[in-house]
Amino acid sequence: LAKIEIKLGDIPEGKNVTLKWRGKPLFVRHRTPEEIQTEQQVDVASLRDPQPDSDRVKKAEWLVVLGVCTHLGCVPIANAGDWGGYYCPCHGSHYDSSGRIRKGPAPLNLEVPEYEFPDEETLLVG
Ligand code: FES
Repeated sequence: LAKIEIKLGDIPEGKNVTLKWRGKPLFVRHRTPEEIQTEQQVDVASLRDPQPDSDRVKKAEWLVVLGVCTHLGCVPIANAGDWGGYYCPCHGSHYDSSGRIRKGPAPLNLEVPEYEFPDEETLLVG
């Protein structure tokens, strides 16, 4: 099983990087304090795929999700859409900064893969 190691110091706050992992795009997003606060305050009951932000991240600063739209698999664009998280241009799905579906045809939130933080500077996905 292929794992990928990411040096977190290479990703500035506010930036989303796209990597390739097991043949799929992987998003690693260094969230801003504003994004964290916004996502933590969302009314979970209002969501199509109800998940609190705390169930989707292990550290509030870091969102790790597959860059695969849960509608038909296109790659969403980061820092776009009505919620500023991700926008899938194929059929117009909007995701928030927790990778949760907020509008459009996608049925589910962006998938969170297995990952861990072996130390303060490293993310290990897989
Ligand atoms: Fe993303 Fe259809 S594949 S909205």
